[in-house]
Amino acid sequence: MYSIRPVNDLFLRACRNEPTERRPVWMMRQAGRYLAEYRAVRERVDFLTLCRTPELAVEVTLQPVRLVGVDAAILFADILLPLDAMGAGLRFAAGDGPVFDHPVRSLDDLARLGDPDVERDLGYVFAAMRLARRELAGAVPLIGFGGTPWTLAAYLVEGGASKNHGRLLSWSWEDPRGLARVLGRLADVSVRYLQGQVDAGAQAIQLFDTWGGLLDAQRFRELALPALLVVVEALRGKVPLIYYLNNGAHLLPELAGLPVEVLSVDWRLPLDAVRKVVGPDKVLQGNLDPTALLSSPARIAELTDALLREGEGGGHIVNLGHGILPQTPPDHARAFVAAAQRQAPAPAGAARQG
Ligand code: CP3
Repeated sequence: MYSIRPVNDLFLRACRNEPTERRPVWMMRQAGRYLAEYRAVRERVDFLTLCRTPELAVEVTLQPVRLVGVDAAILFADILLPLDAMGAGLRFAAGDGPVFDHPVRSLDDLARLGDPDVERDLGYVFAAMRLARRELAGAVPLIGFGGTPWTLAAYLVEGGASKNHGRLLSWSWEDPRGLARVLGRLADVSVRYLQGQVDAGAQAIQLFDTWGGLLDAQRFRELALPALLVVVEALRGKVPLIYYLNNGAHLLPELAGLPVEVLSVDWRLPLDAVRKVVGPDKVLQGNLDPTALLSSPARIAELTDALLREGEGGGHIVNLGHGILPQTPPDHARAFVAAAQRQAPAPAGAARQG
């Protein structure tokens, strides 16, 4: 069947490291509070109701495509939803971020959590995915996502956001095998949840490792990597996988061999330096500092041009190095996306982009 709407599959081709006319661009947390249109929806419903109402989740998923012009959509949901489905009791207290009524601080706590039936308990995410695919009609690809087991554990053990992750890290020193059981359960639920997203139409999956950088390289290998590999191996080959690591420049040598197509990195190392460590095969995603979008549109265009030059040495999906900040003026987000899309073709021989 032919669509009369132009189909933009730059993002998917870039994930597979195929030649593209230009590099695609999207932004982590692109559906969110920096958009007045998102805030208008949030005035009517709270955050979790928004996640659980497919029509509304799809409405805000499409907002950045329509209003900012990004080359990919990411389904509106949250990495913490599967923890709630396990019975951890997620709430968003006004101004405080996420809170769990039943944190897991022992193996007894873990045993008290349930084993979710993802179709029954997270089916609203899959329904939103199907609806978003239908509404997008191929206009841009749709990304699904989840947290890595380590990052999910960071919230589940702490009972919410934390300044120093004392509970998680003390458990990791005292009883790494016990914590590995928690990570194993989280990996198992994640595999079923992410497989459900793929079955519902997710065209790529991004794994968010917001807290992976807390660990030194040896402890990352021993604690976080085994459960991460369970998830990656289960999904491998189904859709392109993107692994996002925050604050983890010291872990890049560990990641060069991770079997994912795309490595998404923060801004703390320039992309050409990342490329030197991970080699030619990985597609890189990122990595403008989100605070750069608080500077003027003219400055944003210059900084984006510099980012494009740093990314010339291989496959590159343009993005921020972490989520867009709520105080970002929408015009500044548009300046970033427009500058990325205006790019001249990479010089011959310098890049895979054709
Ligand atoms: O990227 C997108 O546009 C899709 C939606 C998305 C959200 N959260 C919506 C959201 C995605 C991909 C996430 C990922 C997420 N959620 C991460 C990993 C990325 C990162 O930022 O490191 C993490 C750690 C979470 C957990 C989470 N969700 C926290 C800590 C908070 C509170 C802090 C905050 O940013 O407000 C949330 C809430 C949340 N998730 C909001 C949004 C738009 C704000 C809720 C609101 O509207 O009030």
